[in-house]
Amino acid sequence: MCGIVGYIGHREAYPIILKGLKRLEYRGYDSAGIALFDGTDIKLSKTKGKVDDLQAKLEKEIPTNGNLGIGHTRWATHGVPNDVNSHPHYSNSGNLVIIHNGIIENYESLKKELSKRGYTFKSDTDTEVLVNLIEDVKKNENTKLGKAVQIALNQVVGAYAIAVFDKNKPNEIVVARLGSPLAIGIGDDEFFIASDASPFIEYTKNAIYLEDEEMAVVRRNKGVKVRKIKDDSLVDPYVQELQLNLEQIEKGGYDHFMLKEIYEQPSAILDTFRGRMLPNEGIIKMAGIEDNMKTFLNANRIIVVACGTSWHAGLVSEYIFEDLARIPVEVEYASEFRYRNPVITDKDVVIAISQSGETADTLAAIKLAKSRGAFVFGVCNVVGSSIARETHAGAYTHAGPEIGVASTKAFTTQITVLTLIALRLARAKGTISSSEFRHHMIELELIPEKVKRALDSDAYVKTVADIYKNAKNFLYLGRGYNFPVALEGALKLKEISYIHAEGYPAAEMKHGPIALIDENMPIVVIATKKGHYEKVVSNIQEIKSRKGKIIGIVTEGDEQVRELADHVIEVPETIESLTPLLTTIPLQLLSYHIALMLGKNVDQPRNLAKAVTVE
Ligand code: G6P
Repeated sequence: MCGIVGYIGHREAYPIILKGLKRLEYRGYDSAGIALFDGTDIKLSKTKGKVDDLQAKLEKEIPTNGNLGIGHTRWATHGVPNDVNSHPHYSNSGNLVIIHNGIIENYESLKKELSKRGYTFKSDTDTEVLVNLIEDVKKNENTKLGKAVQIALNQVVGAYAIAVFDKNKPNEIVVARLGSPLAIGIGDDEFFIASDASPFIEYTKNAIYLEDEEMAVVRRNKGVKVRKIKDDSLVDPYVQELQLNLEQIEKGGYDHFMLKEIYEQPSAILDTFRGRMLPNEGIIKMAGIEDNMKTFLNANRIIVVACGTSWHAGLVSEYIFEDLARIPVEVEYASEFRYRNPVITDKDVVIAISQSGETADTLAAIKLAKSRGAFVFGVCNVVGSSIARETHAGAYTHAGPEIGVASTKAFTTQITVLTLIALRLARAKGTISSSEFRHHMIELELIPEKVKRALDSDAYVKTVADIYKNAKNFLYLGRGYNFPVALEGALKLKEISYIHAEGYPAAEMKHGPIALIDENMPIVVIATKKGHYEKVVSNIQEIKSRKGKIIGIVTEGDEQVRELADHVIEVPETIESLTPLLTTIPLQLLSYHIALMLGKNVDQPRNLAKAVTVE
């Protein structure tokens, strides 16, 4: 993961890089560093900790002038998070300085070779090996930096997005990409380098996204030259016009990105179906589906690959696709799928779900599925991301940038897109009638308003959070469509409050988790009117007789569960297949408030990162 930023132009580089790193902190935040060229030499400062810690240290340590620089915020892979392992890294001569996002898998053998040639290493990182390899090539081949980077990268196995410059040639930054994202912002005689476009959005709307196995030499006053790393051929890069705006990536008055993103769900869901669904005319139109309708209709099955929260959205979609479109679905952890020699044929449709579009395991699963002939469809949030580009076709969620590490609006918008797809296919297959089709659309259209109403429970959820914030364990139960929501609720709590939580299908409770229940165990039970209500009520009785504390997520006006539960949180009524879009809201709020009350960093929980671009 890690976030990288660079600047070359006529402005002061430091404020741009610092602000950029703050925007990229969602990618990793265990250490950070910046290297600036002040006109004569490189000035470098780095530290364990967050970008704020870096700022405090750097401004005491080095002058901050210069209009060339690179910066890095790290999520450790090789070497523990400490000052020495932080990026940027110098080469032995001190001439070159590099930042890197990714993993150099063959770094040990390269390190041995370089050591034999007299190179020494201060850190435990693979990155320091790479910068010295570049230096070694540059010296031995007596070549320019760009060529040296190219030759070095051809010896490297692994994944990377890098930016490197030479203090003796301070008019250029060399960048390259394989497996980790890298965008180049094109300004007026100035250029920005970043892992995504957020660091430079207020300076330019034009960006080049490097493709895998491409590198670029970015020259002050001269422009960007892109070429293929392997065969040296020149590439005519596509300059994309960015849709992102500054407001979207700032907190907009909320204390945390996570809270802002929870509250953005009504509009995010609306934006996701707007223009794709016309209930009155009985139409759902999505280009990626229409263009590939035959493939979908002839598919033997759908295999969903994803990780984390996106995997939970995939599980919800299993219910939707099977229920509405009668297509068999398998939902796979991308990391397991890619390593278990799965049976895939050209009759399979693979749906890859990913907020970031950069998750390494999901990307690898896609490549595997493609190599075996499957048609791969992407559901991504980040436009132009690696997964969006690697898939044969796709549909974006229109959630807008999600910065909080714990995913919220991405989950509900993924479910929205998957519902649209299932409905469209169901109609094409004739597995639902036109009136059912219309009814589903009308209900989906009402969801944004109902999510708003579900958000009204915020104050009450906060009081519940206060009562249970010191619990050591939580259990989350749900059935049918709401079983994946139980998993997601438990994941949210674990991620940001570090309280152990398990999600379970309500009926499976009897086969193990029931042994954990006593008067200290809070159990969140999703018990909406639509969806096995009576069965779930029986499960609640079982919990009650073992003195567990019951927090029921119920349909507005519910009486039965209210009688039994210690607390009930109401959500509006909807059809069963859409209940996850509502029941998930109080669970997000519950984890948010508990984490906050425990003094945890809600937006940047320990050890996690927003985009996991390593295996
Ligand atoms: C990380 C994030 C999760 C996310 C998962 C999958 O673990 O912290 O929030 O659900 O990756 O990410 P993706 O971008 O592929 O949806």
